[in-house]
Amino acid sequence: MDSSSSAVESALFLLFLPKTEALPSIVAFLLAALSVLWFYPGGLAWALSRAGRSIPGPRGMVLALSGAAAHRSLATLAETLKATGLMAFSVGLTRFVVSSRPDTAREILNSSAFADRPIKESAYELLFHRAMGFAPFGEYWRNLRRMSATHLFSPMRIAASGEHRRTIAQQMIRDVMASMEKNGAVEVKKVLHFGSLSNVMATVFGKKFDFGKGQGMELEELVTEGYELLGEFNWSDHVPLLSWLDPQGIRKRCRGLVSRVNVFVGGIIGEHRRRRSGGESVDGDFVDVLLDLEKEERLSDSDMVAVLWEMIFRGTDTVAILLEWIMARLVVHQEIQRRAQSELDGVVGNSRAVADGDIPNLPYLQSIVKETLRLHPPGPLLSWARLAIHDVHVGDSFIPAGTTAMVNMWAITHDERIWPNPESFEPERFMEEDVSVLGSDLRLAPFGSGRRVCPGKALALATVHLWLAQLLHQFKWVPVETGVDLSECLKMSLEMQNPLVCKAFPRY
Ligand code: HEM
Repeated sequence: MDSSSSAVESALFLLFLPKTEALPSIVAFLLAALSVLWFYPGGLAWALSRAGRSIPGPRGMVLALSGAAAHRSLATLAETLKATGLMAFSVGLTRFVVSSRPDTAREILNSSAFADRPIKESAYELLFHRAMGFAPFGEYWRNLRRMSATHLFSPMRIAASGEHRRTIAQQMIRDVMASMEKNGAVEVKKVLHFGSLSNVMATVFGKKFDFGKGQGMELEELVTEGYELLGEFNWSDHVPLLSWLDPQGIRKRCRGLVSRVNVFVGGIIGEHRRRRSGGESVDGDFVDVLLDLEKEERLSDSDMVAVLWEMIFRGTDTVAILLEWIMARLVVHQEIQRRAQSELDGVVGNSRAVADGDIPNLPYLQSIVKETLRLHPPGPLLSWARLAIHDVHVGDSFIPAGTTAMVNMWAITHDERIWPNPESFEPERFMEEDVSVLGSDLRLAPFGSGRRVCPGKALALATVHLWLAQLLHQFKWVPVETGVDLSECLKMSLEMQNPLVCKAFPRY
């Protein structure tokens, strides 16, 4: 007899308890019903669904998603319950499935049934339901994807912005030198965050900011607050009764932020309009692209704010976080850093700076990036989940419409049945086998896969490769006395818990 049937028995027993003042039968009935539902495999939300019991999963409620190591807790649970293919669980009234295996991950990510995303309250309040990442699958979303594929992420556009990325890297190099001179050490993420934000701002808004003062400081505050809000686990998303109360104050903070974002981004759109009506030349940034759309495709001002704002969000921290992990690994593994530098010296030499065109000739450097994406995927749960639009099967399991589906990419990339010595940092593995990270091979798909795969992946990789090459070409990176702490913390992305601080010495 399994424990759910014993729970049924105890419920029946409670039902037939004699009426006493201490335990009125209605309370007994509710307790009984709750305990039956609670002990159902997959928990309460699955018990209330039409799904039957085809998917294994923990009983009760899983609290892991609110923790800083949700990917690890879910991986352990799936392994323990022999549910790596698919595991069901509940958070409040939300029904989840999570895949920790490439075959079921592929089915979820590539199926049109999972082409929607569940929308969290914070994302809704921040207007992201009108931006690409959260827009429901349909015509509006398709238009945004098409437009950004042509005007923001096309190979031609990415190549055209190469010079700009190089200039920003030169500024970062000056910042590293200044920090070494002033403090004798560098807090790497600060430099990278500045570079990344400048890069996205120039591509999207065609604008340069002085960070740390004036408008630049305001922008940094807006981005940081948005990141915190989107990364925070919000109980109101899963327990509808709580959403009235906004117990964590998330709605209030979102509303405060969105009005500031409207003024900020709205101001930039206004500047573009004024320039254009004054006959000034058009830079061709993404704001101009949106303003040039034909009548039937034209976006309202508030939709434009949402679309532009999302790009700033998505484009900034992911790149800075990935580069920080890469640099941390290279500071720890000095021999790997030396090998990458000798590859650079062979290809670039020491009399000129690295350029985009050098990257295809630097396979070891590319392997370092892949190995870091494997060990420290910025979105270990692929950040933003998928939602079943209609009833569907994954393998033999029935998934009712409205179920939230996640892929635990971290569990897949740390599975020793897939990756030998999964905890060890070995870029060499990718010199022996060429694995694509772009979504075709689900053993390593840090940018997701299928219709909603990350549209910024080529731009992100172009930026990360070039900046990494420049930073390694220019400096030797060594640890400070306290070493490097590789502990992680899951917020909106998987970040280093303690920022990397190290030393950088010029190589030439
Ligand atoms: C290292 C850098 C990055 C990583 C690891 C990353 C990862 C991801 C992942 C895992 C998804 C979800 C994919 C899925 O559901 O299958 C995603 C979606 C998305 N990413 Fe990225 N991303 C990165 C950089 C960027 C950049 C630079 C941009 C834009 C400037 C961007 C824009 C987006 C957008 C708009 C979506 C939503 C797409 C949709 O729902 O249709 N990302 N990203």
